[in-house]
Amino acid sequence: MCGIVAYIGKKEAYPIVLKGLKRLEYRGYDSSGIALLKNEEIKLFKKEGKVLNLENHVESKDNSGTRGIGHTRWATHGPPNDKNAHPHLSQDGAIAIVHNGIIENYDVLRQELESKGYKFNSDTDTEVLCYLIADIKKNTGNKLGKSVRLALQQVVGAYAIVVMCKDEPNKLIAARKSSPLVIGIGKENDFYVASDATPIVEYTKQVVYLNDGEIAILNEKKGLKLYNIDEVQKDPYVEELELHLEALEKGGYDHFMLKEIHEQPHSIEDCFRGRLNAKEGWVSLGGIKYYENDIINANRIVMVACGTSWHACLVGEYLFEDLARINVEVEYASEFRYRNPIINEGDIVLAISQSGETADTMAALELAKSKGATILGICNVVGSSISRITDAGSYTHAGPEIGVASTKAFTAQVTVLTLMAASLARKKGKLNDSKYRNLLSSLEAIPQKVQLVLDKTEKIKKIAAKYKDASNALYLGRGSSFPVALEGALKLKEISYIHAEGYPAAEMKHGPIALIDEEMPVFVIATKGPSYEKVVSNIQEVKARKGKIIAIVTEGDEQVKQFADDYIEIPETNEYLVPLIATVPFQILSYYIAVMRECNVDQPRNLAKSVTVE
Ligand code: F6R
Repeated sequence: MCGIVAYIGKKEAYPIVLKGLKRLEYRGYDSSGIALLKNEEIKLFKKEGKVLNLENHVESKDNSGTRGIGHTRWATHGPPNDKNAHPHLSQDGAIAIVHNGIIENYDVLRQELESKGYKFNSDTDTEVLCYLIADIKKNTGNKLGKSVRLALQQVVGAYAIVVMCKDEPNKLIAARKSSPLVIGIGKENDFYVASDATPIVEYTKQVVYLNDGEIAILNEKKGLKLYNIDEVQKDPYVEELELHLEALEKGGYDHFMLKEIHEQPHSIEDCFRGRLNAKEGWVSLGGIKYYENDIINANRIVMVACGTSWHACLVGEYLFEDLARINVEVEYASEFRYRNPIINEGDIVLAISQSGETADTMAALELAKSKGATILGICNVVGSSISRITDAGSYTHAGPEIGVASTKAFTAQVTVLTLMAASLARKKGKLNDSKYRNLLSSLEAIPQKVQLVLDKTEKIKKIAAKYKDASNALYLGRGSSFPVALEGALKLKEISYIHAEGYPAAEMKHGPIALIDEEMPVFVIATKGPSYEKVVSNIQEVKARKGKIIAIVTEGDEQVKQFADDYIEIPETNEYLVPLIATVPFQILSYYIAVMRECNVDQPRNLAKSVTVE
């Protein structure tokens, strides 16, 4: 949700900031802008739409300067247009700011500033903050760093900001509260700042993740100084990035989403590598090892997340309850945080998040922590906010996910949940040796089986061509395939804009069946397992109403094929692992339907990868 990039040093800032914005475009693509500082003058370039529009706009202009701040926006306050694009300038043009987050009390601050005679040029909360900083600086005579700090003391809300001032050209000020910011420390006393490490990795691996309430002064002459909001100086904690540059490129694929779908055999293997040995019969998730007894003894585990990660929680609920007999409740983080939920000491709240930055999920964890719960996390992005506030957790190790639609993150989340459930079930004595070993060896075989599904891409593409013009679609599944149905529907709607809904197959007759006619594609997970016969009956109900059935079936299935208009076979596996395989054909299908409908697959309209505002 909005991307920030900044540079100060001896190199030209524009190419660094522009490239960084392209890397962060997945966080928002309503507008973008760059401010450059040279010879105590700030040059400002802003454009509605993609970063490419900005690049075309700046191309023929003077874009020199060794300090720069840039922003790619996902609009919150005010429509996406040139005027509301960041950076914003103070009224006298001396200060420039980029901001990710929401200033909740901006209206009050704006009125106060207007009463002093200030006139605003945009509808944004960010411009208000910029004017406030400038007003404090002018009236107190303080330097930029202190003025920013005093302004932030008046702010209610979330922010990651970078501020630049033409009167103090040797420094940038960076600050965060509830929105992420990383500082890269270059080799020549130069500094990079970004919303995540992807724009930084090609220049330096030495980074400092800002914590909430921290303000960094990046001075080309004096180095990095870190303060809290009360001006107490802190020692920066420098970490080494593990990110690799190749992981941020498309690697020959047309889209990041396609690349990420195809990466799944590897990302699933990376996720369980070193954590699982079927031959020796062990699972070890180092991150939560010391919390396993707490989990086993907890009254319940509340899993909180949003979107695709919430679907992973639903699979987790099924695994934890069925395998380990541990009571799980799954909650939308956005509902949980505002519902005054009953949380007792000894409860465990487990958050799942690809980005580790989702605002609602963070807030749900903070609430749970304040009420005495142990908070755990499953995150993909190393060093992300959620991974740092939780008591313990596990990374999914899926590598950077750049396509806005989540694919490999989902299968990695489900893999971690499976490892957790298996380990807890074993510890609780709920899984006998042969079932335990079978589960582990089946998990080890999942990457090959996912590859077999990927090998069916041509067939799936033909099915996509058949249904690409649908206006609606239903996805049905039972048991742990119900979340797969939800996930299938979400993938289709978010990238192809076809209205789609996921339902537990048996719920269909309580309403959605009324929608079925010969135009309606119904995607059903009908793999062999405990509810197979029941799903077959649900399929017949659809066929009786002339609906089109596209079934995911177990290899060799003959029964469903008789009724299905189209089918995709997936390899047989342990019943607990079906979601890991069954979700893949739906990803491929959605991808090709979106491509055939000429949709922007990696950057669907109105969406952003990392939802750091409520
Ligand atoms: C859908 C999708 C979103 C995210 C959701 C949570 O494809 O990507 O629904 O799953 O915004 O994001 P994270 O997992 O980063 O907390």
